[in-house]
Amino acid sequence: MRRNRQILLQGRPSGLPTLDHFRLVESPMPQPKEGELLVRNVLLSLDPYMRGMMDEGKSYIPPVPVGGVMRGETVGEVVETRDPRFAAGEIVVGPGHWQEYASFRAARARQLDPAAAPVSTALGVLGMPGKTAYVGLFKIAKPKPGETVVVSAASGAVGAAAGQMAKIHGCRVVGIAGGAAKCRYVTGELGFDACVDHRAPGFAEELARACPDGIDVDFENVGGGVLAAVWPLLNDFARVALCGLIAEYNDTAPRAGPSLGPVLEKRIEVRGFIVIDHEEVTPDFLRETTQWVREGRIRCREHFVDGLERAPEAFLGLFEGRNFGKLIVRVAS
Ligand SMILES: NC(=O)c1ccc[n+]([C@@H]2O[C@H](COP(=O)([O-])OP(=O)(O)OC[C@H]3O[C@@H](n4cnc5c(N)ncnc54)[C@H](OP(=O)(O)O)[C@@H]3O)[C@@H](O)[C@H]2O)c1
Repeated sequence: MRRNRQILLQGRPSGLPTLDHFRLVESPMPQPKEGELLVRNVLLSLDPYMRGMMDEGKSYIPPVPVGGVMRGETVGEVVETRDPRFAAGEIVVGPGHWQEYASFRAARARQLDPAAAPVSTALGVLGMPGKTAYVGLFKIAKPKPGETVVVSAASGAVGAAAGQMAKIHGCRVVGIAGGAAKCRYVTGELGFDACVDHRAPGFAEELARACPDGIDVDFENVGGGVLAAVWPLLNDFARVALCGLIAEYNDTAPRAGPSLGPVLEKRIEVRGFIVIDHEEVTPDFLRETTQWVREGRIRCREHFVDGLERAPEAFLGLFEGRNFGKLIVRVAS
């Protein structure tokens, strides 16, 4: 009798989670109900927002209960279908969570065409992170050609897509990334105009040198010390697309942050956004970005980790920059 392997939330972390906050268990195989699919997960996406789901309390996504399966998007193969629109053997993206097999409502799954793009891209550049980049750039920041756009976590899933989209749009794009290798990748492979290493001494001065005309758009993925260096360089009428604050997700006490005073003085617009509020962009996003990926105008680096059991360790690596590209677990071959 086949059993399912799952990773559960074992306890709520304070600060940086550890491996003790996760538990690998064996459980009975899920049984799909009417209108559901049984999916064999092949790829599991690991994303920074999952840190928020480990905490109690109100957020835009509900917390995972202690003892519950860690949630996440997966690409997998339909094993059994109780919805006539799907067939066994099809590859779908959906909420398969941190486990080998999942059953979920067919309406929450999207069929993938492996001939259109590698199916892993449904978790990255053609999935939620790519759509986040598209929304943040074109709906929130609205850069004009020729403007200077700064993108933090520039080699990552969201940042790499955002910066390349800004280049396609005719902007001057400056990335911020951790370490020389990532910076070389951001300029050499992704085609950003410059990239500054936030771990190097003199980071703030280097960023200022890379932005001689100031910053018109900050696509902010990091916060903390990175945002503190960006802040004084913002031009009048600059726009900050506040996408993420990964440097602050494990804080245990409030930090002395950058002052919001200039938001008023320079009429800077800061607007948080959550990708799930912008479903209407999905057709445009998929059409345009699929084309850019096909033409090689957008590249997407993926960082694969083999084995569901390595998911917790890989997830924790997101907070130390151990992933280099979109982090994906190969749950099965
Ligand atoms: N608003 C939304 O709807 C939405 C949707 C998706 C993602 N996001 C946010 O977008 C951001 C990027 O997500 P992603 O999926 O593309 O992740 P990612 O960039 O692929 O991985 C995270 C990267 O963040 C950087 N980082 C981690 N801790 C840091 C720290 N303390 N200081 C500076 N940099 C740090 C590391 O890169 P370096 O080595 O280069 O520092 C790490 O590789 C996150 O903040 C995420 O929460 C928001």
